[in-house]
Amino acid sequence: MRATIPVKPALISTPKKIVLWMWKSPVGIYARKILNTFRPTANILRKLQVRQREKDALIWANETHYKTAFYSVIHPEEMILVDYVCSHVQKNASILDICCNQGRFLLELRRRGFSKLYGFDIMDQAIQTLRQSEDYNPDLIHVEHCLAQDYFLDKADNAFDWAITYTATIELIHPEFDIFKALERTVRKGMILVINENGHAYPRFYRLLHRLHGFRIVSTRKEGEITMIHSVKITQN
Ligand SMILES: C[S@@+](CC[C@H](N)C(=O)[O-])C[C@H]1O[C@@H](n2cnc3c(N)ncnc32)[C@H](O)[C@@H]1O
Repeated sequence: MRATIPVKPALISTPKKIVLWMWKSPVGIYARKILNTFRPTANILRKLQVRQREKDALIWANETHYKTAFYSVIHPEEMILVDYVCSHVQKNASILDICCNQGRFLLELRRRGFSKLYGFDIMDQAIQTLRQSEDYNPDLIHVEHCLAQDYFLDKADNAFDWAITYTATIELIHPEFDIFKALERTVRKGMILVINENGHAYPRFYRLLHRLHGFRIVSTRKEGEITMIHSVKITQN
């Protein structure tokens, strides 16, 4: 019988631990922000990380990684997005919720009197759950089950007055897709984005991206690791 050499888990995991530590260190995050923010480096990443889009999305496509029930209710601290939208956006404005999951924010905005609501998400079960909700009305809430990378393709210029999102959404989308360019083309008035600027897979210089794509930041509000960034389009058509 061949003798087995005992494996020391600590020895195997140390390089990984070092990489993880560097990845999450302030220097690592800064370096990743540079790579993820600018088009030349984002395009290099696209060539190096072939099929990364599919890998990122597959985690979310079904419920093996995250259960959609996790996003069924708005917790009190998450209500800041809804309250802020209600006090800064007119009720007749159209609003796109980027990566809406089962639409907890869309449904709440609907209850608060908004009637031109849009959303998309790659999690099929989440979109189905939204469509089965008592408060869902397909004439008022328009949702699609698709990738962010595909959603904007058939949308007209200035299709939405406002875009909103509640964190761990844009931050999960590979920088090969220039989502801010898509938002610049399709959003007419402004955005209220709750973002973890330093966290998740793809940290970016989000405030710079707003400015580079024609949005002026009018206010920011930091709550722990997340920041709500309210911006308006500089040239409104
Ligand atoms: C952390 S959850 C947040 C959901 C929602 N904003 C909320 O707070 O209820 C992130 C969502 O982004 C979606 N997502 C991640 N990457 C995506 C992509 N490339 N295209 C479309 N949806 C994506 C996931 O399916 C998931 O529902």
